[in-house]
Amino acid sequence: MFCCSCLFIWFIVAGIGLKIYLKLRNRHNGSYTCLVGKTAIVTGANTGIGYITALDFASRGARVILACRNENKAKDAQWKIIKETKNPNVIYKLVDMTSLESVRGFAKDINANEERIDILVNNAGAGGLGNHKTIDGNQITIQVNHISAFLLTHLLLPKIKKSAPSRIVNVASIAARLSKLEVEKLNDFPTDNDFPTDVNASWADTQMYANSKLANILFTTELATRLSGSDVTVNVLHPGAIKTEIFRRVPGILKIIIDALANLYFKTPEEGAQTTIYVATSNDLQGVTGKLFDNCKQIELYGVAQNSDLAKKTWTKCEELAKLKSTEKIK
Ligand SMILES: *[C@@H]1O[C@H](CO)[C@@H](O)[C@H](O)[C@H]1NC(C)=O
Ligand SMILES: *[C@@H]1O[C@H](CO)[C@@H](O)[C@H](O)[C@H]1NC(C)=O
Repeated sequence: MFCCSCLFIWFIVAGIGLKIYLKLRNRHNGSYTCLVGKTAIVTGANTGIGYITALDFASRGARVILACRNENKAKDAQWKIIKETKNPNVIYKLVDMTSLESVRGFAKDINANEERIDILVNNAGAGGLGNHKTIDGNQITIQVNHISAFLLTHLLLPKIKKSAPSRIVNVASIAARLSKLEVEKLNDFPTDNDFPTDVNASWADTQMYANSKLANILFTTELATRLSGSDVTVNVLHPGAIKTEIFRRVPGILKIIIDALANLYFKTPEEGAQTTIYVATSNDLQGVTGKLFDNCKQIELYGVAQNSDLAKKTWTKCEELAKLKSTEKIK
């Protein structure tokens, strides 16, 4: 029998079914690792999965450094974490991922004042930033989501190595799969003509975002190679689709659609942070490096993500965009 209301009911049933499936599929970090005596840095820690990650580390007894851009939001997050975990060893330091100088200032402060770095979580990221140039002359999405993390990791690496066994965790995104990365165009400013679609600007944003997230993955595999034998591991993960403020700058109708779907189907920040926490803390992952994780499980690197030649070329391009000094390069 076919009628409109039956169709409507099937629609609802399918919607509820999907929701239940997604809830059941979510895995939990399952790690009981204690982090007393360890220091962890989480970038973008004032909101979303970064906040939950920092909260989790603090509840494990770590010294936690919240790397944030906005002082009021950072203070607020610090206060909430200390209140909830009763761990007073939570501080914040300001860093603006749109500025290489700011990243350098942050790293200098950490290197001068912190004894150790056991965990670095490169979590900060944003979508919908538009087609702007940073003060360093780079495309803003690439710089915020990748170049800054690339630079920060380089600058902190000597201390991370001294603290080994230590872990670097890069938060990428499933959006990396949409990337059609060409290294020469990594820092290109897309024009409408490059994007034959009726939502040009948003599509350009999506492409830049996807490129930056693929760059996170390629960086991870190449860094793991360069760090082999050092007892510093580096892994990358897809947190899943999450209700965060990451799309807060996406314009108009697209935002309304994303918001509506997000409210229905996306993970909460608590659910989304599980894989980051798992990769950063689980004892099962000692010595595991250069791998990609999703939903608290290692998954295979797909297609371009396992292209080591592309990874090397992207690396060289990023050294240039991050304006690295030759003494700072990782051989
Ligand atoms: C991670 O797993 C541990 C152990 O199951 C749990 O105590 C902790 O609350 C989890 N963290 C989060 C943020 O859910
Ligand atoms: C998208 O770009 C094409 C080619 O430049 C242009 O013809 C079209 O009008 C643009 N669409 C929108 C919605 O801006």
